[in-house]
Amino acid sequence: MTAPPLPAARVVVMGVAGCGKSSVGRVLAARLGWRYIEGDELHPRENVQRMAAGTPLTDADRQGWLGKIAAELAAAAAAGRGLVVTCSALKRRYRDVLRGGAPDVRFVFLHGPAELLASRLAARRGHYMPASLLPSQLAALEPPAADEDALALSIEPPPEELAGAAEAWLRGGAPEPFPFSPGASR
Ligand SMILES: Nc1ncnc2c1ncn2[C@@H]1O[C@H](COP(=O)(O)OP(=O)(O)OP(=O)(O)O)[C@@H](O)[C@H]1O
Ligand SMILES: [Mg+2]
Repeated sequence: MTAPPLPAARVVVMGVAGCGKSSVGRVLAARLGWRYIEGDELHPRENVQRMAAGTPLTDADRQGWLGKIAAELAAAAAAGRGLVVTCSALKRRYRDVLRGGAPDVRFVFLHGPAELLASRLAARRGHYMPASLLPSQLAALEPPAADEDALALSIEPPPEELAGAAEAWLRGGAPEPFPFSPGASR
């Protein structure tokens, strides 16, 4: 039996490099029939060159990029369209910029042990993000707090399962344990 349609929402799939944002975000958008935006593709060329060279982005580097994602969220909200967008959104103030575009934006936060993240990055091919940036990403990470509309998912299960859990949450399913406890996963 097909599940009833879900009211359109704006969802950001977030987390550090290699946590599976693109893998899970694509599946989630396809399941829901919502638009998918690869947040990485909104980076200016200079940011991509910096990351490819192993240089962590600064807040200033990220400002314009976050503004573009916020604008996409705002446009989807104004049109009442469903949207799934990937964005590392590591710090609360970055998520505040996204909420500035769409106050009702919801976050799916993917997290896992550093060793698993490193091994997935090392095995991945054809992506500019080097595994050497992982430590700076983990250091920058501020997991969503209890007052943010976020679901924390541990990344061990396959993307299809994680997307299913995210869909259940969007449908108002049983709340996940929250707030996220860093000690539990890394
Ligand atoms: N749940 C999962 N189980 C197993 N492998 C996964 C899972 N999620 C992602 N992967 C694999 O891990 C690698 C990193 O995933 P992905 O590119 O989706 O991460 P990302 O968060 O989008 O990274 P980036 O921040 O660099 O864009 C890919 O090779 C992907 O196939
Ligand atoms: Mg990605």
